[in-house]
Amino acid sequence: MNKLNFANKWVLVTGASSGLGQEMARQLAAKHKANLIIAARRKDKLDQLKAELEASHNIQVKVIVADLSVHADVVSMIDTCLADGQLYGAILNAGITYFGRHKDLPWEQTENIMKTNVNSVVYMTSRLIAHFEQANTEAGVMIVSSMAAFFPVPYQAVYSATKAFIMAFANALSVEIKNPALSLSIYAPGGIATEMTEGKNFNDLKGWLMPVGQAATEGLNAFISRKQVHVPGFLNRVGNVFMNFIPRKFILKNMGKVYYKSLLKAESL
Ligand SMILES: NC(=O)c1ccc[n+]([C@@H]2O[C@H](COP(=O)([O-])OP(=O)(O)OC[C@H]3O[C@@H](n4cnc5c(N)ncnc54)[C@H](OP(=O)(O)O)[C@@H]3O)[C@@H](O)[C@H]2O)c1
Repeated sequence: MNKLNFANKWVLVTGASSGLGQEMARQLAAKHKANLIIAARRKDKLDQLKAELEASHNIQVKVIVADLSVHADVVSMIDTCLADGQLYGAILNAGITYFGRHKDLPWEQTENIMKTNVNSVVYMTSRLIAHFEQANTEAGVMIVSSMAAFFPVPYQAVYSATKAFIMAFANALSVEIKNPALSLSIYAPGGIATEMTEGKNFNDLKGWLMPVGQAATEGLNAFISRKQVHVPGFLNRVGNVFMNFIPRKFILKNMGKVYYKSLLKAESL
C-alpha cells in the first residue's frame, strides 16, 4: 500500500482546539501542506488556529463547531465532511478523561465520557470507512486510543475502558476493509503534556509526560505509514512488551499505588 500523502488533500482532525489534535493540525499544515477540517466545541480556539495556519502555510482550513457527545452534532459533522467527496484522511482524536475515584464520578459525566470517546468514534469510523470503501480511492483513518487500552489505569477506569473499546473495534474492523488503498490505524500514546494532564491530580506524574510536538510527529508518521497500531516513544514500546510478562494483578496494583499517591498529594494541596 502507498504511504499517505496529504499535500493539497483534505484531512479532518477532531479535537483540534488544543493538545495533540491542535499540534497534529499544525504539523499537517506546516510539514505536509494538507488542507484541514478542524473540529471541536471551542469556536474561538478553532478560528484562531484557522487564521494562524492559513496565514503561514498557503493552505485552506474549514472550521466545524461540534459537541461530539451529542449524536446530532456527530452526524452533521460527518455529513459536512463527506458532502463534496474531497475528504482524503481523518484523525479521530477528540477525547476526555476523568482522574479520581470512580465512586465520585457522577453518572452524567460517566456517560459523557463514553459518548465522546466511544459512541462518536464508532459512528464516525463506520461512516468514514463505508464512504472510502464505496469510493474505492486512496484514503486513511486514524483513531487516537491510548496505552491505557493495553493496561487499564486505576482512577481512570472509565477512560481506560473507552480507549480499550475503540482499539478493539478498530483492530477488528481494519481486517474487514476491502479497498486496497484504505487503512485504519490506531495511535496509542502514553502520557502527553496537554490540557488533559494539566490538572493538579496529575502533578506527581508530570515527569512521565511526552512533549506534545513529539507525540504529534510520531502519530502523523504512523498514520502516513499506515501502521496498524503505534505506541510512541521507545521506552513506552519496551515497557508495553515487558508488561506482558508480568502478572496483570501485580501491574494493576502497582499502577494503582502510583496514581493514588498523585491523587492524595493533589487533595492535600
Ligand atoms: N494527554 C494524554 O496523556 C493522552 C494520552 C493518551 C491518549 N490521549 C488521547 O489523545 C487525545 C487528545 O487528547 P489531549 O491530550 O490532546 O487532550 P486535550 O488537550 O484536552 O484535547 C482534547 C480535545 O478534544 C476536544 N473535545 C473534548 N470533548 C469534546 C466534545 N464533546 N466534542 C468535541 N470535541 C471535544 C477538545 O476540544 P473542546 O474542548 O474545544 O471541545 C480538545 O480539542 C484524546 O483522545 C486522549 O484520550 C491523551
